[in-house]
Amino acid sequence: VSAAAEEHNSEGRPSGAPPGAPQAFPWPVLVCFALTAAGAVGFAASYWVDAGTEALGATFGGALAFLALGLALWSRAIDAGEPEYVEQRSPLRTAPSEYDGFRAALAEQPVRRSGVLWSMLGLSAFSLGGAALFPLRSLYFEHDVSPDEALSRTDWLPGRRLVDDDGLPVKPVEVGPDSVITVHPEGVDPGKEVDTVTVLVRIDPVELDLPPERTGWDVDGVVAYSKLCTHAGCPVGLYVETRYQLLCPCHHSIFDTRRAADPIEGPASRPLPQLPLDVDEAGYLVARGDFSAPVGPGWWRYPE
Ligand code: FES
Repeated sequence: VSAAAEEHNSEGRPSGAPPGAPQAFPWPVLVCFALTAAGAVGFAASYWVDAGTEALGATFGGALAFLALGLALWSRAIDAGEPEYVEQRSPLRTAPSEYDGFRAALAEQPVRRSGVLWSMLGLSAFSLGGAALFPLRSLYFEHDVSPDEALSRTDWLPGRRLVDDDGLPVKPVEVGPDSVITVHPEGVDPGKEVDTVTVLVRIDPVELDLPPERTGWDVDGVVAYSKLCTHAGCPVGLYVETRYQLLCPCHHSIFDTRRAADPIEGPASRPLPQLPLDVDEAGYLVARGDFSAPVGPGWWRYPE
């Protein structure tokens, strides 16, 4: 018998502890599983109210972390109740008194207590599984429209003003011939609705060559295009005013703003969608409607 075994009686408990003495209940394990369930519910709530990626990551990551911590603490608690010892080989038969003691101990406490922990573990696993189902909704319907409709619609509505990064409305005269202005729909959080980001450029009306069906989409040569590259969605923010070209810095696609932002170089195969423009009574630029096509990369429909 090892030295460790000598310090324990035949039931594997410390010599001083009475047979069948209850172990301290591992409350931290219970708390961890409860926090796992709370994190999973928080994830579902964050998804529902569209609280942002940070909230989704924090709640779901927290739930997983507390689940792992709870399982680790539980295994430690089990180990603590089972001290190491070396069993003697003979006699191999369990004495009737030991057998009765084991049954009595089993009936007394461990099963009921671990039942609580198993229940809480089940609740946390069920909550996590339920929370994991929520993002599936994003793959199918959002705001009660089909994915195709959702990709085709943005928050640009007829009559909605164009505002700059500071939220100020823009007049056509503010768009210089050598500048490009980034604009967003008034009243829309550009941090959340990235598909609405738009650039304004001014083209000499003599140079402007839009398709006939887009007659009147410019205001005195000022035209608006989606800022999302149709190759892989990078912001198209570089402008060569001498050639009226918008450049994407990611893979060097070039778009001709005179001709409805047709791609003339690089991997993009689709024009930048155009936003039809107008002015309101106060002289500020407004949208006539939504973009001419879905914005951003179009892998789901347009082969590159
Ligand atoms: S993302 Fe613009 S060229 Fe690739």
